[in-house]
Amino acid sequence: MTKLEGIRACVFDAYGTLFDVHGPIRKLAVEIGENADAISKLWRQKQLEYTWLRSLMGVHADFWHVTGDALDYALEFHDVNEPGLKDELMALYLKLEAYPEAKDALEAVRGRGKMTAILSNGSPSMLDAAVRSAGLDKLFNFVLSVEDVGIYKPSRRVYRHAMQKLSLHEAPSICFVSANTWDAQAAAQFGFQVVRVDRFGLKDDRIPGKPAALVKDLSELAGLI
Ligand code: LAC
Repeated sequence: MTKLEGIRACVFDAYGTLFDVHGPIRKLAVEIGENADAISKLWRQKQLEYTWLRSLMGVHADFWHVTGDALDYALEFHDVNEPGLKDELMALYLKLEAYPEAKDALEAVRGRGKMTAILSNGSPSMLDAAVRSAGLDKLFNFVLSVEDVGIYKPSRRVYRHAMQKLSLHEAPSICFVSANTWDAQAAAQFGFQVVRVDRFGLKDDRIPGKPAALVKDLSELAGLI
């Protein structure tokens, strides 16, 4: 695969890219029953939709709030109303596991002398909890949240925020890494060099922006920069 030239920093999406968002439901799958997978997918889908809708409506609420609303929707849709289940799942969302190759991949990127950062929809306290519980806390120069901007990805204001915080003035000096097609493509359209992680076997969305590289998981990343 072609190497990306001129990279100074790798900026990672968090949920679905570094952290496994389907872990909480998987842990309680037996209690939840046969619709567990469908609930997990719907939870994630609604979580993202609500970020986009709120951004368009101009009615921001942080990712913790949106994640709870999305879970309420998914549980109600599937007629699951066990007392205490929502709280248990939300608590697990603060202790997400990193994908198995994430730690080594981050170390390899840092070993190449590149800065590392997270740029996520997650609220600062959610990101702090996830990074610490996954044991990744020493591996980032910056953990950046959209809460500093007040609008969700894929607003260009969010991607610009990363450049400002990293004091990088040229968008292509950032390698943006995401397993979310829409995020990867929007970041490419913004001007970052993008590596999309194909964790879910998805096709590129029919929106502007083309990632520079597609990898199976994060272990291929350091070799590209
Ligand atoms: C994030 C979501 C999009 O971490 O996965 O920003």
